[in-house]
Amino acid sequence: MPPFPSELAYVPFVSVEHMMGLVHHIGIETMLCDLADEIEADFKRWELFDKTPRVASHSEVGVIEQMPTSDREMYDFKYVKGHPKNTRESLQTVTAFGLLADVDSGYPKLLSEMTLLTTLRTATTSAMAARHLAPKGATAMAMIGNGAQSEFQCLALKAIYGIDTVRLFDVDPLATARCARNLAQSGLNVVPCTSGKQSMEGADIITTCTADKQNATVVTDNMIGSGVHINAIGGDCPGKTELHRDILLRSDIFVEYPPQIRMKGRSRNWKRAILLLNCGR
Ligand SMILES: NC(=O)c1ccc[n+]([C@@H]2O[C@H](COP(=O)([O-])OP(=O)(O)OC[C@H]3O[C@@H](n4cnc5c(N)ncnc54)[C@H](O)[C@@H]3O)[C@@H](O)[C@H]2O)c1
Repeated sequence: MPPFPSELAYVPFVSVEHMMGLVHHIGIETMLCDLADEIEADFKRWELFDKTPRVASHSEVGVIEQMPTSDREMYDFKYVKGHPKNTRESLQTVTAFGLLADVDSGYPKLLSEMTLLTTLRTATTSAMAARHLAPKGATAMAMIGNGAQSEFQCLALKAIYGIDTVRLFDVDPLATARCARNLAQSGLNVVPCTSGKQSMEGADIITTCTADKQNATVVTDNMIGSGVHINAIGGDCPGKTELHRDILLRSDIFVEYPPQIRMKGRSRNWKRAILLLNCGR
């Protein structure tokens, strides 16, 4: 018989399968609402966190990042990568895992998949921000970029903010069709659109969640009326721009962590960084 390792050597592991089971057990909308309360509580103790801008390793086709933080009791880091070209090869753009450790002993306490968790967290943060910042009583959201994150963004805005309609647009019609199919049983009124401009008709909330490293302008100034709330998510590293600069110049801009946000969504041609609302950890 080979010797057994000490119990201290075991680190609980939450796989994608476990996480999916947990989401199904709790129910997606309940989980999103509970997460929103947790995240909001963490924002209220923001000063306490030991924060560092993410450590990024860029390549022509993507980025691999580590995101460490600590609240002085627990330490964690997330490994996350973003490769917009991946969907053409039937791979995911975003994949992540993370580790939680006890600060006092330094022992790892939990190793977890974070691909699903990232999706849930990002969706929840958009909806939580909208709860505080978006015009009251908005019923429709334009969802631009209908990839892996999008259906969760829609579900979170329904569960946490209270929208009843999503207007979908993606440069890839198959992505829109898939997102619409996945939302068919959600209780949302789902409207597939053929242009970004069309998707914004009657929408007081706009969420951009595109993946592209081409310095693209997905939303131009003339598309945006006054008083609209934008969750800009996809411009989360240099070259992944989404909003035209003029939109930013006439907006109130809310970000999670300025030192990190200034590194993201930066266009080659601009001296100033794009400041995005939801570029989180
Ligand atoms: N801010 C955050 O915290 C956070 C968290 C998760 C993901 N992200 C980012 O969000 C983006 C989307 O992630 P995903 O997992 O859904 O990726 P994905 O590749 O699954 O989906 C992206 C979609 O955007 C579409 N798209 C690309 N350019 C477009 C354009 N100009 N107009 C309309 N649609 C366009 C693509 O066709 C694709 O369907 C990525 O850039 C990712 O890095 C940010």
